[in-house]
Amino acid sequence: MITAETIEKIKETARIEEVVGDFVHLKKRGSSLIGNCPFHGEKTPSFHVSVNKGIYKCFGCGVAGDSVRFVMDHEKYTYPEALKYLANKYNIEVEETVESKEQLELNSARESLYIVSQFAANFFEEQLWNSDDGRAIGLSYFKERGFREDIIKKFNLGYSPDVWDALTQEAAKNQHAEEYLEKTGLSIRNDKGKLYDRFRGRVMFPIHNFTGRVIGFGGRTLKTDKNVPKYVNSPESDIYHKSNVLYGLYHAKKAIRDQDNCYLVEGYADVLAVHQAYIENVVASSGTSLTIEQIKLISRFTQNVTILYDGDAAGIKASLRGLDMILEEGLNVKVVSFPDGDDPDSYMHKVGAGAFKTYIEEQRQDFILYKANILLAEAGKDPIKRAGIIRDIVESIAKIPDNIKASVFVRECSHLLEIEERVLLTELNAIKLAKSKKTAAATAPKPSSFGHPDMPPDDLFAEDGPAAVPMPSAAEQISSDILQENEIIRLLLTFGHELATWEQTDNMYVGSFIIQNLSDVTFEDSLCNRVIDYYRNELEKGELPTINQFLRSEDGEIANLAITLTTSPYSLSENWLNKHQIYVKDESQNIKAAVLGGLYHLKKRKVDKMLTDLMNQIKEEKDVTNQDILMGRYAQVKNVERTISKFLGSVIVK
Ligand code: CTP
Ligand code: MN
Repeated sequence: MITAETIEKIKETARIEEVVGDFVHLKKRGSSLIGNCPFHGEKTPSFHVSVNKGIYKCFGCGVAGDSVRFVMDHEKYTYPEALKYLANKYNIEVEETVESKEQLELNSARESLYIVSQFAANFFEEQLWNSDDGRAIGLSYFKERGFREDIIKKFNLGYSPDVWDALTQEAAKNQHAEEYLEKTGLSIRNDKGKLYDRFRGRVMFPIHNFTGRVIGFGGRTLKTDKNVPKYVNSPESDIYHKSNVLYGLYHAKKAIRDQDNCYLVEGYADVLAVHQAYIENVVASSGTSLTIEQIKLISRFTQNVTILYDGDAAGIKASLRGLDMILEEGLNVKVVSFPDGDDPDSYMHKVGAGAFKTYIEEQRQDFILYKANILLAEAGKDPIKRAGIIRDIVESIAKIPDNIKASVFVRECSHLLEIEERVLLTELNAIKLAKSKKTAAATAPKPSSFGHPDMPPDDLFAEDGPAAVPMPSAAEQISSDILQENEIIRLLLTFGHELATWEQTDNMYVGSFIIQNLSDVTFEDSLCNRVIDYYRNELEKGELPTINQFLRSEDGEIANLAITLTTSPYSLSENWLNKHQIYVKDESQNIKAAVLGGLYHLKKRKVDKMLTDLMNQIKEEKDVTNQDILMGRYAQVKNVERTISKFLGSVIVK
């Protein structure tokens, strides 16, 4: 058992932002730090860390706790394991009272795997530097390939002697149990029950987890014989899960955070070479194709990934689709490709560290444009192939959760593909719509997307218990207000340039009609107000604004709203339908009903509010004359309300 004093010390020392920060990319917002919750999938951060209180809480999935709880949940550690992890992180000596034998065994099983792995790493390293074969074969191999001594040391590279059981023997001599040698895969038992080494006559790359402990190895052969596998790797074990390990992350994580970018390469040698060029924010997926866990691992440290590719075209094409996965996680993806036949490693050694760094910085391209260029070059002049590319590119764009970013790519690709932006947007809408229908069917309804669920109130760590979550009715009220105002904006943007052909309007534009009808209405939502003001100003200048002016607005919030409202044309109507049981027939066929319905619903809402306000004033007013004036006003407004209700009853089936 860990003593109470030690536990106290650990809890006092561990800083929540540092403990969480090792796993989650945190940004400052208001009085707390926020990031994407590591316990449930999300693209907009709802995971809050309060430095003062030493706790975290996710407003998406509800998890909460302190540093110890976080480590337990995140690393699936027991309480004592989590305490030891923190003690290790902060160099705190752990005092323990004597444990029972079973407890000791249980707690130490994983620990034993770490220990024997570290032992093996030391052994291989020792062999590389201090044995005749190690120096003559292993070290000289690394040097011939151009790797500097400081890099070889930094990554604890080693050499496994070309002997049947060198490591197995040495481990036995040092009282390491065979069980753990086998469980880590360092040793293998043959048919006769004898243990021998997995790695023989190879240069060794120890693989560290991101806290720096050795969890596995890759061993590269020095033979050119095609029948010998180039790499032999450790098998999966209780401490080594390939799909969530990135080679080099331990040495890279600080630089990744500092540079706010992570270079991704394919192999061990590439990681070393890039490091040698003084670029330390680099990791490798090591042979496996990139997994979602690896992407999430990167996203704890940065939202920006730059892929360094071999110059081989077939390989590039095969991996393009895999990269969509990174987009889907909301990361920004850039790409650098090397001349045909070169990988980062060979290119670095060819041109030298300085030129390599310059090359990377100058050649960096955005992934989507890179992809478009590659596919275009391949399609040549073939019109059918070119058409296929559009779909392919737009599918990648549709993976980007951030609408503003997506709209930038739409614009750039429209230049590149020589296709009108409108056409790309239509395609994008179709894909997004199909996707949203799929997810809507699969998940329970969420609160309105206009309620900014990613922004809980700043006082969420208030002293008096859990955060103040608004009452459902109030929340519904607000979202419903904004929903109606958003609906007007959507109608304005979607149909503004159509002619309002219904009789009383003298054939004016729908945009002008809507704006005119809003002269007596104030919007609750300031963003909606900004759109209306802008529209009104343009009209006063004699211009009819186009939807592109909004989609491309310098005001990012306006652009985002415009994109959200116009790229999923039916999501709002569905909401509308559910909330108000209003049936809108195919609305482009009946713009009049859609526009008047939207306007009058909004007006009815405002008028109802006026009536309530007036009634309250009347109740409080003592002066009889004033009361009369207010009553008169009430009657007037009530009349308006009746007209509106009657209209709504006739045009739209409730
Ligand atoms: N790999 C593997 N087994 C193989 C080949 C490759 O596990 N038989 C993995 C290794 O993690 C390797 C990565 O895939 O680092 C990339 O392969 P490659 O580019 O061939 O390896 P490099 O590390 O670049 O090796 P070298 O430059 O020494 O040939
Ligand atoms: Mn290579």
